[in-house]
Amino acid sequence: MKMILVAGARPNFMKIAPLMSEAMKYPAIQPLLLHTGQHYDPEMSDIFFEQLGIPKPDIFLGVGSGSHAEQTARVMLQFEKVCLTEKPDVVLVVGDVNSTLACALVASKMNIKVAHVEAGLRSRDRTMPEEINRLVTDSISDFLFTPSEDADVNLSQEGIPKEKIHFVGNVMIDTLLKFRSRAQETNKIKLTRSDYILVTLHRPSNVDDKSAFENILLILDEIAKTIPILFTCHPRTKKQIELFELQQYFNFLDTTNEAVLDIKQTINAFGPLPYLEFLNLMGNARAVLTDSGGIQEETTILGVPCLTLRENTERPVTISQGTNQLVGVNRDCILKAMQKIMSGQWKGGGQPKYWDGQASTRIIDILMKHYAH
Ligand code: UD1
Repeated sequence: MKMILVAGARPNFMKIAPLMSEAMKYPAIQPLLLHTGQHYDPEMSDIFFEQLGIPKPDIFLGVGSGSHAEQTARVMLQFEKVCLTEKPDVVLVVGDVNSTLACALVASKMNIKVAHVEAGLRSRDRTMPEEINRLVTDSISDFLFTPSEDADVNLSQEGIPKEKIHFVGNVMIDTLLKFRSRAQETNKIKLTRSDYILVTLHRPSNVDDKSAFENILLILDEIAKTIPILFTCHPRTKKQIELFELQQYFNFLDTTNEAVLDIKQTINAFGPLPYLEFLNLMGNARAVLTDSGGIQEETTILGVPCLTLRENTERPVTISQGTNQLVGVNRDCILKAMQKIMSGQWKGGGQPKYWDGQASTRIIDILMKHYAH
């Protein structure tokens, strides 16, 4: 079985790592790792390969940034050539980024089987680019590997035949469980304060509009009067801070040298951080405030309170069984939740079914069984 495994953006790397390592165990599988180059800065890409032990990609497309149409089209044009040359039996895509959609679309039109890992998640918010990517990818995939039972229900409701849907669990958690203790040992980031709230923001709806972004910063500024905030910066967020001239809200810190970071009673900004350093900061935080999808899942397993600064989530199991709560960008709602967290009254997290470190084993096993006859 010749299989191309596709990775393009930062959250893909944690998902592709265990799948690649599992696929490499079978002599009957010829795995080819393809990196589209959607994320290209060393701190958004190379460092993740290094820390997670992902082999060097066999194929690199180097598509870079652009508008949605530009980026998707560039991946499609390049990936079609790869499929013509390599003639894979299966193309495996993960998550919901533009690279996921682009490669699934190309493979499907060339009658190559598509396996989608993290299928069936729905926010029901079509203003999110990821929701469009999820809907289209799932509708053309042949193997739909779901992380939670709600995803199976979503796919069935959309008319996807049962035999295509496989509930296997969460591959991102495979990586978290494997690296959790190693992350605890990393002490590259030293802080002058051990009590903090960790914040990540990068969704266009939160950072691409000046008043929306500033509204969040004002709320964070209020929280920081009680407990310092560590704000790890995605490149998109960094760009928007400069564009909107919002620097006055931040104490910028440099993590490139080994010095101890002088945390002030304000919003302390740095990063983006490597996987292990971020996991360590997340595990030790009083709470995490985020608009990321994956972080809602990781905090659930770490048992750390998570406030999601969005109106909806495609990962409802993190609310029903985990430590997550949707708070939107409403000041009162966020401050009320913060009070509850600070007084130690937050709900404890559980472990959703099959978030047990074995999801990638189940996936490769299903693909092997299918192709064995
Ligand atoms: C993408 C995904 C999003 C995911 C996020 C995680 C889509 C539609 N979005 O969003 O689902 O949550 O990755 O990080 O696929 N940039 C750099 N260096 C890089 C990469 C990007 O500076 O290595 C900057 C560029 O200015 C670029 C901007 O960040 O224009 C946005 O990058 P892009 O890949 O378009 O989307 P993300 O916001 O990263």
